[in-house]
Amino acid sequence: MKELLRFSAVTLFPEMFETIKSEGVIAKAIKKNIIQLETVYLRDFADNIRKNVDDKPIGGGDGMVLRPDITEKAILSVKTDATFIINLTPSGKVFNNSIAKNIAKKSHVLLLCGRYAGYDARVIAKHAHLNLSIGDFVLSGGELPAMCFIDTVARFVPGVLGNQLSAELDSFENGLLEAPQYTHPENFSGMKAPDILFSGNHKKISDFTRKEQLKITAQNRPDLILEHWDSLSRQEKVLVEKIWKFS
Ligand SMILES: C[S@@+](CC[C@H](N)C(=O)[O-])C[C@H]1O[C@@H](n2cnc3c(N)ncnc32)[C@H](O)[C@@H]1O
Repeated sequence: MKELLRFSAVTLFPEMFETIKSEGVIAKAIKKNIIQLETVYLRDFADNIRKNVDDKPIGGGDGMVLRPDITEKAILSVKTDATFIINLTPSGKVFNNSIAKNIAKKSHVLLLCGRYAGYDARVIAKHAHLNLSIGDFVLSGGELPAMCFIDTVARFVPGVLGNQLSAELDSFENGLLEAPQYTHPENFSGMKAPDILFSGNHKKISDFTRKEQLKITAQNRPDLILEHWDSLSRQEKVLVEKIWKFS
């Protein structure tokens, strides 16, 4: 069994993490002692009575910047030789499942959750191993990105999901999006679930599912199809080209 994966989050809003600590997959994994999640309150390291942790940007500009000296004290309060430090920022590398799988093998991940204009660049240059963005949009703080990150990484830690196979069948795992899913009732609002799914014929169901995956990926994420183009069969390429031609 893999050793415990510990997440630490440097934040100005530690209470925000209570939601994932008390409910759902993360809460269960914490109870099972597979993962640990602690918050490091940045204001605890402030050196002034008002507990200010930010200051005006040097050179002018909008917003306040989180001070490097105070941030460093917060980092050093939990950092060990095994700590992998990630700065959450819209200007980072875009996060995905493949990054998540690699991080899931680590034993301690420290997440820097920014606010205002983010952290001073020097403390990031000195301590962070990776700058990570959760997508091409700007949120007002790094806490939601940190929780998205923790949830995604935890799914790849053995023992966190009841059935590890479910992560392997999810979107992106074979380079495609997941096929549409159906449950009972068979008929809903005049729409019947596809007949083939009732056939019990595993080969036919798996061929059907693969086609559905190709269709939805071609429609919504042509970039993924192009990335995996060489791994598609000739028939699959024809199907994709037809979808693109008529959409
Ligand atoms: C208002 S944002 C700062 C945005 C920064 N001025 C910029 O334009 O890149 C405040 C904090 O929210 C977090 N944040 C916002 N959007 C994010 C994203 N897409 N991915 C990761 N973190 C994000 C970061 O921690 C950031 O320091």
